[in-house]
Amino acid sequence: MTEHDVLAPYSGSAIPHVGTYRRVLPVTLERMYENALDWAHLPHIHASSFASIECVDAGAWGWRANVTDANGRGSVIELQLDKTLRRWITRNLEGSSQGSEIWTHAFAVDARRVDINVDFFVPGVPAAAREKVGQAYARAYTTLYDEDVAMMVERQRQIDRRINTGGETVVDVGSEEALTAALAGTDPVEVHYRGRSFRLATLGGKWFTYPAVCPHQLGPLGSSEMVEGIVRCPWHGYAFDVASGDCVNGHSCRLDNRPSVVVKAGRILLEP
Ligand code: FES
Ligand SMILES: [Fe+2]
Repeated sequence: MTEHDVLAPYSGSAIPHVGTYRRVLPVTLERMYENALDWAHLPHIHASSFASIECVDAGAWGWRANVTDANGRGSVIELQLDKTLRRWITRNLEGSSQGSEIWTHAFAVDARRVDINVDFFVPGVPAAAREKVGQAYARAYTTLYDEDVAMMVERQRQIDRRINTGGETVVDVGSEEALTAALAGTDPVEVHYRGRSFRLATLGGKWFTYPAVCPHQLGPLGSSEMVEGIVRCPWHGYAFDVASGDCVNGHSCRLDNRPSVVVKAGRILLEP
C-alpha cells in the first residue's frame, strides 16, 4: 500500500490522511463560514485548547495567526476558505504540528443543518500509528465543535429574533428600594425595554443599563459578571465600561442604544 491509498477522496494533499470526523450540526452554512473566519473566538470559546491568538493577516480569503495552545506551545496557523467548494483548509505552517493540514467540507442538509466532513492529514506518522492519531484529532474536534455549536446556535437565535421597537417609551421596572436590595452583592437584574433585554446595574450610586446581547456579534454579554463596572463578553473578550459605553480593550465597538435610568418618586424608570 502506498501513502496515497489512504488519502481522503476530497483531498489534493500529498500528506498522509490519518482520520476523518463527521457530524451534522444544527446551523446554516452561513454560520459555519462565519465561524471558520472568526479567528478571534479561539482563546475565548476554546479556552481549553487555545491560550492566545495574534492575527497576522485576515480577509474574506481566511486568516493567518500566531497561536499559543493551552500547553504554551506556539504555532503559526493559516485558514483558507473557499466558499465555491464549500471548504476550508487549516494548515500548521510553523510549530509542533508543522505540516499538518485539516480539510473541512460542509454540505447543507437543509436550510438549518450542515453535514461536515473533517479530514486530518499529518506528516511523519508511521502507517501503524495513523488510526490512533486520527482518533485523537477526532476527539479534539468533538470538543471544538461542541463549543462552537452553542455559539452558532445562540447567534442564529439572536439574528432570528424579531426586534420589537414598539412599546412604551418610559418603562417602570420597579421600586428603587426593591431593586437596590435585589442588586446587593449579586449580578445585575434583567429588565426589558421595547422588546430588548438589558441588565440594570448600579455603580458609585448611579444607575445604568447595558444590553444583554453584545453589540459585536450578538454574544451573551448579559451572562457575564460585572467587575468594577466592566463587563467582558465570553465570545471574543470585548470588555465594555458600562458607565461610558466604551470598549476598554481596543475594539471599535460601543454600548449604544440603551435606555437611560431615571429615579422618580422612588421608582426606577427606563427612558430613551
Ligand atoms: S460577540 Fe464578539 S465580543 Fe461579544
Ligand atoms: Fe471555533
